[in-house]
Amino acid sequence: MSKFYVTTPIYYVNDRPHIGHAYTTVLADVLARSHRSLSDATFFLTGTDEHGQKVQQAAEKRGVSPLAHCDETVVRFQELWTRLGITNDHFIRTTQANHKRIVAKIMQDLYDRDEIYKADYTGWYCVGCERFFTEKDLVDGKCPDCGRDVNAITESNYFFRMSKYQDWLIDYIQTHPDFILPAFRANETLGFLKKPLGDLCISRPKSRLSWGIELPFDPDYVCYVWFDALINYISGVGYGTDEEKFNSWWPASCHLIGKDILTTHSVYWPTMLKAIGLPMPKTIFAHGWWLTGNSKMSKSLGNVVNPMDMIDRAGVDAFRYFLLAEMSPGNDANFSEDAFISRYNSDLANDLGNLLSRVSKLTIRATGGEIPAPNELNADDAELANAVTQAISAMESSLESYKLDQGINAAMNAIRAGNRYLEKCAPWTLAKNGDTARLHTVLHNAAEALCKVAVLLAPVMPQKMTELLCVLGADKAGISGIADLAGLKSVAGFIMKEASPLFPRIIVETDPGAAAPAPKAEKKAKTEKSAPEKTQAPENVLISIDDFFKTQLKTAKVLSAEKVDGADKLLKLSIEVGPEVRQLVAGVAQFYSPEQITGKTIVIVANLKPAKIRGIESQGMLLAAKNGNDLKLVTIDGDMPSGISIG
Ligand code: ME8
Ligand code: MG
Repeated sequence: MSKFYVTTPIYYVNDRPHIGHAYTTVLADVLARSHRSLSDATFFLTGTDEHGQKVQQAAEKRGVSPLAHCDETVVRFQELWTRLGITNDHFIRTTQANHKRIVAKIMQDLYDRDEIYKADYTGWYCVGCERFFTEKDLVDGKCPDCGRDVNAITESNYFFRMSKYQDWLIDYIQTHPDFILPAFRANETLGFLKKPLGDLCISRPKSRLSWGIELPFDPDYVCYVWFDALINYISGVGYGTDEEKFNSWWPASCHLIGKDILTTHSVYWPTMLKAIGLPMPKTIFAHGWWLTGNSKMSKSLGNVVNPMDMIDRAGVDAFRYFLLAEMSPGNDANFSEDAFISRYNSDLANDLGNLLSRVSKLTIRATGGEIPAPNELNADDAELANAVTQAISAMESSLESYKLDQGINAAMNAIRAGNRYLEKCAPWTLAKNGDTARLHTVLHNAAEALCKVAVLLAPVMPQKMTELLCVLGADKAGISGIADLAGLKSVAGFIMKEASPLFPRIIVETDPGAAAPAPKAEKKAKTEKSAPEKTQAPENVLISIDDFFKTQLKTAKVLSAEKVDGADKLLKLSIEVGPEVRQLVAGVAQFYSPEQITGKTIVIVANLKPAKIRGIESQGMLLAAKNGNDLKLVTIDGDMPSGISIG
């Protein structure tokens, strides 16, 4: 059994959590859940950073004590984590007595060993960032991090001898390729270390700032908030209080952070640990930023996305899924509601939802619910099994590299392979033709693929995947974690239940005032045809998904219809396709009267080159099933606005 200890930054208690904070915490949660699922001993720490000037100022403004202010604001984080299903093992607040005691103990120890000394200091201070800068750090005389004004301050302060560890740190980073990830962040740190490293000012005179941990050797000062905050990673797992516990968790497997706090974690913290005499964490992983409209989400820019709104709209699991699938953690990602809805609808409602509902319906129809045993296997079965095996190994290696989007992507590929498998093997036809042996194999294999992928995705979508495993009857067989898959011989015999939609589609209200797409030039390239003749692809020729998606299928509403003079088979329709009104000529007059067809929501090929039929332009084609002398329109099962893409 291996050990996994993961941390998030401790967030400034003053702030309102937004999707940036949610992202780091959900990522840590998925890692923690995945490691638990692999039966690793796991500890997950998060919390809040509660000292410093910003808290003191906010509390003063409100006329309450700083601690009372923290007690009120910390709840925002705690409530959000509860809502998001975060399974942290401890929530640390830097105002807790134990943490304060450990910080004081470390400072005294470092002072006694001359790792900390007193000196005069002139610096530039940014209140927003709670950081001192030297003259040469400033950019145009402003804070190099946030661009705000800085204040010049000269005072006596205490310093940590950080500079003496510079060479050691450079060497450590160079000889430990997993220490700072992604690798380009290690290079960034090494770049920073090319300049001489100064000593770190770790105190603030109480006359200027009193809200902090008092220095044990000088009651006129409090500890610099970053020096205090970083220590949470060891005080939170028993350092100085419970040595056995501490030794079982430290060194941390991974400090997850955003790239905004790289230097404090990759320079301050390692040198502090070195001076304390503790081993380094295995990995510091700095992910990119969530942006909105291509700038960093921040309170001052007023472009923050409130996670609660997204959760209300689509559910917790869909939100967790989106965060992790959408961001490749080394890079920045842009948040937009459109991207959220389109990923939800395509990956969850469509791909995953369809596979589940097909497998459950077909199995219940075929056997009453029991997943049948498979028979002889062929190449199609092997292809599906292969997609699932790949998903399992991609998920396992993404846990190592922290690039969970890759594991999730492979899992979704396996789901799509499952849908293709059903389309190719057509169990509905096997059932009709009485080919029970093959039908059973296909149903078994599709259910097995779904079961394994559900286990892989359970750390990302804990509630929904538990529900899915329940529908498959896998819960009764004790299947819940990745570690259970090794012992899973077959899903045959599991009792399948009827599935209700796990992820109901999100329907976007199309804005009737939105600009209609400009008529395409192609509309003028008219081809004369006497009737809408179609050449159908031969039965057994397979096309790629890309080929299929060249066809734009859309919902359309028939606004009005009339017979075409002199052509008894044709109706001329006026249809609404989202914001657009089009004219369409269809050979359906013998089966539908203008009154019958008006008002129906039909399906059209929206990107067909316009054609002239009996001198009338037809802008698209409707879909219908024709069986000898019978014809039925393809319509939509339930209410759906026009102009919606189908696929
Ligand atoms: O820096 N995109 O706390 P903080 C992605 N208290 N992640 C984001 C983000 C965004 N737009 N905005 C915030 C602090 N984050 C210190 C940390 S640790 C010893 C002390 C996430 O409240 C990301 O993880 O400003 C980032 O590093 C962290 O929140 C900063 O949180
Ligand atoms: Mg910040």
